Amino acid sequence: MAFDSYLTPNSFDAPEMPEVLTFHDRTKSKPISSMDAFLRSGQYVDSARGAQEASRNYKVAPEVDVQELTEPLPERLATCLSARRSCREFDPEAPFDRTRLMAALRCLVPQRNAQSVIDEEVFFHWRPYPSPGGLYPVEIHLLEREGDDFALRHVDPAGAKLRVLRARVPMGEAANALCIGDKTLAQTTKGAILFSAVWERTVVKYGFAGYRFALMELGIVSHHVGLALADQGVDTLHWGGFFDDRGTALLGADPRTETLGHVLWYGAASDA
Ligand SMILES: Cc1cc2nc3c(=O)[nH]c(=O)nc-3n(C[C@H](O)[C@H](O)[C@H](O)COP(=O)(O)O)c2cc1C
Repeated sequence: MAFDSYLTPNSFDAPEMPEVLTFHDRTKSKPISSMDAFLRSGQYVDSARGAQEASRNYKVAPEVDVQELTEPLPERLATCLSARRSCREFDPEAPFDRTRLMAALRCLVPQRNAQSVIDEEVFFHWRPYPSPGGLYPVEIHLLEREGDDFALRHVDPAGAKLRVLRARVPMGEAANALCIGDKTLAQTTKGAILFSAVWERTVVKYGFAGYRFALMELGIVSHHVGLALADQGVDTLHWGGFFDDRGTALLGADPRTETLGHVLWYGAASDA
């Protein structure tokens, strides 16, 4: 199968990579070891103290020299900012306009080019979201419901193209990989955007900070897509409840270079 390959692994040494992967492994949800984590988060959610804490996760500063934020929401952003919320129940029967999804993905396509000062044959394509060093460690995939199963496509922002990676991802595989805590999501959504990180792209330049920068980009780009989907009237749920290694395998990625980092379910809310 021919699809554009990226340059990773890089030509420069990234000696921090083994330690980065070891550390990252400690952050993963795994089927065998996750029971303690589920019990712990369940106990937190179910305790009165946990509810009090979660409702007061803000820094208390002295009540002096206080300025009220009374300006109206920025006009052009206001609609999607107020439309955005976590959708907790999707309606699998609701009609879905795929062009809205495509329009949201269009918001990833580079808007600016810049010529390299080192080599005038080289051009950079700056995307609409910020990236550490413009290195774009995050890859974006579309897991789209097709019939009873899914199709997996790679989103290529620079080429403004979707390319099929797997024509069929069985429902069971997607549900077992991506649905910790809510098994219905794979059945009720129209699909998910899967964000992976190719750590080495930033580690090769920034060392251990490159790992952190890639995580930051995961947050930035997923929020960027989430807001674009809100603008298009598509409901979403940002989701960390996936088994990392199974999710990475679903992408067909080599876990030594690329790991699934974030999931954004999309579809139509039951109460829409
Ligand atoms: C990185 C990240 C991971 C999340 N993972 C989950 C998850 O696994 N399960 C879940 O129910 N919600 C998850 N959420 C959604 C948050 O719980 C939700 O955004 C929060 O409760 C605030 O609600 P709102 O999005 O409606 O403002 C996640 C959000 C983020 C940013």
